[in-house]
Amino acid sequence: MTKTLDHLKQVEQAIEVFKAASDTNSLYLPVNYIMSLGGKRMRPVLLLMSNEMFGGQPGDAMPQAMGIEVFHNFTLLHDDIMDDAPIRRGQVTVHEKWDTNSAILSGDVMMVQANEFMCKCDGHVLAEVLDIFNQTAKAVCEGQQHDMDFESRNDVSVDEYIHMITLKTSVLVAGAMRIGAVIAEASDSDKDNVYEFGKNLGIAFQIQDDILDVYGDEAKFGKQVGGDIISNKKTLLLLSALNMAEGEDKSNLEAALAQTDFDSAQKVNSVKNLFTQIGVRKVAEERMNRYYNIALEHLEALQISEEAKEPIREIAALLMQREN
Ligand code: IPE
Ligand code: IPE
Ligand code: MG
Ligand code: MG
Ligand code: MG
Repeated sequence: MTKTLDHLKQVEQAIEVFKAASDTNSLYLPVNYIMSLGGKRMRPVLLLMSNEMFGGQPGDAMPQAMGIEVFHNFTLLHDDIMDDAPIRRGQVTVHEKWDTNSAILSGDVMMVQANEFMCKCDGHVLAEVLDIFNQTAKAVCEGQQHDMDFESRNDVSVDEYIHMITLKTSVLVAGAMRIGAVIAEASDSDKDNVYEFGKNLGIAFQIQDDILDVYGDEAKFGKQVGGDIISNKKTLLLLSALNMAEGEDKSNLEAALAQTDFDSAQKVNSVKNLFTQIGVRKVAEERMNRYYNIALEHLEALQISEEAKEPIREIAALLMQREN
């Protein structure tokens, strides 16, 4: 745990430096706001841990860790507009505190700031780092588009869902870890395995996010519970319910999805009750654990000492038990 906490402290310090260097233009107020709200910082911490696991020196990959965290926070500003989300990390979302235009524009500049951070590395790894980052950033946008498209479809398959969350969420975790490995000049097979570790952990992470969106404690989760139900998000819970429901449960579920004018709290309550009755939470948890175990297999496959892998194994286990 001490390793993780060290890295977390370093990331928080770098964020303070980033905020202090901010221009006075009001464009940066939402940037500093979202970056100040905390969050788990898991992507930069995993990037730094991956770098160190392959022999990188402390600080070597900090600009890229910052780049990934700024990019992640940019996606949150835009995601919260798209999802009409009122709360993020227990506080008012940027588009509600300011307005939608501010959240769009501050998000845009964060994408550029993320790029600036990414470029701050040794010339011999620059092209590879930027290539991973650009591929990742495109994938996130593609995943977000699928996520929106799926809202109005009721025939989404579980495979399509897994593909969607791989793009919107897991490639960023995977890409972050691969960038850490590239900066440490890890071998090709280690780079591939650490990427697959991050990808499968990221899939498990998003399945868990979907579970917490229904069953989480809003005070701990820091986001509106039930938001996915309100907007007919095709989460694994909903897809499993659609696949497993029979008789009256099925028609009630379909009726809930078809509603256009409804009371949000009532819809959340009735769909949540149907989920519980049909027993979809267990199905989702089993699938989440499957991806977590695949991630661990890729960690096993790394050609480095078991001791070097241990901090990542610990943080992965902690993430699977999270409440926020
Ligand atoms: C939120 O990511 C977006 C998802 C991919 C579910 P996190 O759960 O990592 O958010 P913070 O940064 O810790 O707030
Ligand atoms: C996360 O999806 C994907 C990105 C932010 C790119 P969600 O929409 O589930 O994330 P939260 O739950 O709002 O954090
Ligand atoms: Mg969202
Ligand atoms: Mg979303
Ligand atoms: Mg979510």
